Amino acid sequence: MKFRYSNWASGMLKSNIAGFLTAAKEPGMLSLCPGVPFPAAYPTEKVVEITGSLIESNPEAIFPYGHPQGTLRCREAVAYRMKKRGADIKPENIVMTAGSQNACDMVMRMILDPGDTLIIEAPTFLGVLDSIKSWGLNLVEVPIDNDGIMTDVLREKLSQLHSEGIRPKAVYLMSNYHNPASIMLSTERRKELPGIAEEFDCYIIEDDAYSELQYDDVDQRAVKAYDTYDRVLYLGSFSKLVSPGFRVGWGVVPDELVDTWNICRPMFDVGSPQLNQEIVAELHRDNWLDGHIQKLIGGYRSRRDALLDALDEYMPDDVTWTKAHGGFYSWVTVPDNVDLDSLIKTALKNKVIYFTGNFFYLDNRHHNHLRLCYSRPDEDVIVEGVKRLAAALKEEMAK
Ligand SMILES: Cc1ncc(COP(=O)(O)O)c(C=O)c1O
Repeated sequence: MKFRYSNWASGMLKSNIAGFLTAAKEPGMLSLCPGVPFPAAYPTEKVVEITGSLIESNPEAIFPYGHPQGTLRCREAVAYRMKKRGADIKPENIVMTAGSQNACDMVMRMILDPGDTLIIEAPTFLGVLDSIKSWGLNLVEVPIDNDGIMTDVLREKLSQLHSEGIRPKAVYLMSNYHNPASIMLSTERRKELPGIAEEFDCYIIEDDAYSELQYDDVDQRAVKAYDTYDRVLYLGSFSKLVSPGFRVGWGVVPDELVDTWNICRPMFDVGSPQLNQEIVAELHRDNWLDGHIQKLIGGYRSRRDALLDALDEYMPDDVTWTKAHGGFYSWVTVPDNVDLDSLIKTALKNKVIYFTGNFFYLDNRHHNHLRLCYSRPDEDVIVEGVKRLAAALKEEMAK
C-alpha cells in the first residue's frame, strides 16, 4: 500500500538534505555540513548544577501546562538579550517558542494563506525554505549582496507587484551572519527596511538566530532596533547560545498580535517546555550566560580563522569566499564552469562533505556556491576538510 502523504510531506521528501546528512555519517567522512555547536560549547556542568534546585524550589513553574507566551522569567531574560541587540522590548511583547524555526512557523502561519506572496532572500535559510515550499505560497526571491538584501531591488519588486495588484504580506530575511551567505545587512539597509515595510504595508520577518556570536567589531543591532513602525516580527534563538536540543527560541510581536498568539499557540502545539525556559532564565543569574557567550566566541572565532586561513592556503585561484564576522558559515563561490553535481561526488570520494549552494535557492537551480560550516569540527579537522575539498575542486577544474 502506498502511503497517502500530504503535499507538505511529499515536498519534504523531495528535499536533498536527508541524503547529505546520511553521507556525512559515513566512516572517515569530514563534515562541513550541519550548523551545530562544538561539543564543549554546551553548558553541561552549569545545567547539572542548577536543574535539581530549580525543580525543587518552584515545581509549579515547571510541571503544569504553561502560559502560551512562555515563562515570565525567560521572557525577562529575552528582554535583556534584545537590549544587547539594540531593541528596547517589553516581556509582554515576547513569545517563547521551541526554537526560532517554531517561532518562524507560527508567525508565518498567523499571517500567510495559500496564494499569498512572501518575499525571500536568494539565497535563503533552507530550513525555512523547505518547510514553506509546499504551502501554496507565491514565493518571490530578491537577491542579496555583501550588504544583505538589496533594498533597491526589493523596492522595485514591491512596486512592480503592487502595480499588478499583488500585495506581498511579508519579507523574510536574516540580518546577521546570514545562513548560508555569511554576510551582514549594512546599517543603512537596517534603518531603511522598516520604512519600506510601512510604505508597502507588509511585515519584515527578521531571523537573527546567530546574534551575539560576533567575532569582529561590526554593527549587529537588529533591524527591530530601528523599527519605529512596529513592522518587524523578530525571531531569536538560544540554540547557538545555550543548546539546540533545548529548543528555546522566541518571537517579538506587536501588541495587536499578542492576544491572537495566546489563542493560536495552544491550538498548534500547546506550548514550549517550561523546564528548558527556566534553565535558560537561570543561566542569566549574575550574568553567567554573558561570560559563557564570550567563551563560545573564542571557540568559534578560532574555528573561523582556521577555515579562512586554510581557504587562503589551499583553494585554487578563481575561487572566492565570504569572511564571516560571526555565525557559523562561509559561502564559497567557484567558477561557473564547475559542475556542482560532479564536484560533490569527487568531494565524497575524498571523504569531505559540505552543502551544495543550490539547496538555498527556490528552484534548486545550478548555482556556483558551496556552504562550508566550521562550527562543530576542531581546527585541525577543518584544515584537513578544506585540503580535501581543494583537491576535489582542482580535479574538477582540470576537466
Ligand atoms: C538562519 C536560521 N534560522 C533559524 C534556525 C533554527 O534555529 P532553532 O534551533 O532556534 O530553531 C537556524 C538553524 O540553524 C538558522 O540557521
